[in-house]
Amino acid sequence: MNKIVLITGGSRGLGKNMALHLARAGRDVILTYRERSDEAAKVVEAIEALGARAAALPLDVANSAQFAGFADAVAQVLAGWQCSSLYALVNNAGTGLHAPFASTQEDQLDQLYRIHLKAPYLLSQMLLPLLADGGRILNISSGLARFSVPGASAYAAMKGAVEVLTRYQAKELGGRNISVNVLAPGAIETDFGGGRVRDDAAMNAFVASNTALGRAGLPDDIGAVVASLLAEGNHWITGQRIEASGGMYL
Ligand SMILES: NC(=O)c1ccc[n+]([C@@H]2O[C@H](COP(=O)([O-])OP(=O)(O)OC[C@H]3O[C@@H](n4cnc5c(N)ncnc54)[C@H](OP(=O)(O)O)[C@@H]3O)[C@@H](O)[C@H]2O)c1
Repeated sequence: MNKIVLITGGSRGLGKNMALHLARAGRDVILTYRERSDEAAKVVEAIEALGARAAALPLDVANSAQFAGFADAVAQVLAGWQCSSLYALVNNAGTGLHAPFASTQEDQLDQLYRIHLKAPYLLSQMLLPLLADGGRILNISSGLARFSVPGASAYAAMKGAVEVLTRYQAKELGGRNISVNVLAPGAIETDFGGGRVRDDAAMNAFVASNTALGRAGLPDDIGAVVASLLAEGNHWITGQRIEASGGMYL
């Protein structure tokens, strides 16, 4: 089986957790980081300690000029592993923005577009020659694309767009037997958004009180779902939005 999964933004948070769950499931992982090479190196070590292969590559997903060089770097890692293709691409990297609609600035909107829509679009396109027929793409959206919380208009609009993109990718890549889905986490305790869900007790309690399962999400809640979705037996699921939010705002 082709075992290799590429995860953007694997140095911390959800991407790191996905990488560890996938390694435990027998996958090799190429992960990316933007700034924190030290954190990325620790994730590589942790994956190798689980008996899987791992590599970390720098990438700023907001800068599409890097994508061609990044694809070359991925190809070099694959060659070093005596492999010619990736099994899956997880478009995970990203930052948030908490700003009211009335005062969100044009440059903030443009940055969110570059990170959360342009990157999944153009990076997936760039990596298509390296993605195996029968492989997978998993885009990462947010519960905020389904329910509306003030202050998330720009971020959530881009996540909504990546959900539409997912259906088109699934339709157009189905001929290569590539399945494409989008996972929408609810509020999870990571560094995301300044770590508010994890570190602000009032915010954490607010999330828990609006969640059917009665707590905020943890990275393991998402890593486990990603490993499951990318398991061989789930290939028939394609073009779907899967929400993993513990039942937020049902
Ligand atoms: N946590 C939540 O509540 C939540 C909920 C729904 C959806 N999500 C989505 O889940 C994804 C991961 O979020 P998270 O909670 O893991 O966030 P996080 O803990 O802040 O980690 C973000 C990761 O993305 C990387 N990254 C950030 N900006 C980047 C850029 N411009 N180019 C390349 N890499 C970049 C970071 O790399 P460095 O370490 O090098 O900075 C890091 O690996 C995001 O797409 C986010 O929108 C999160």
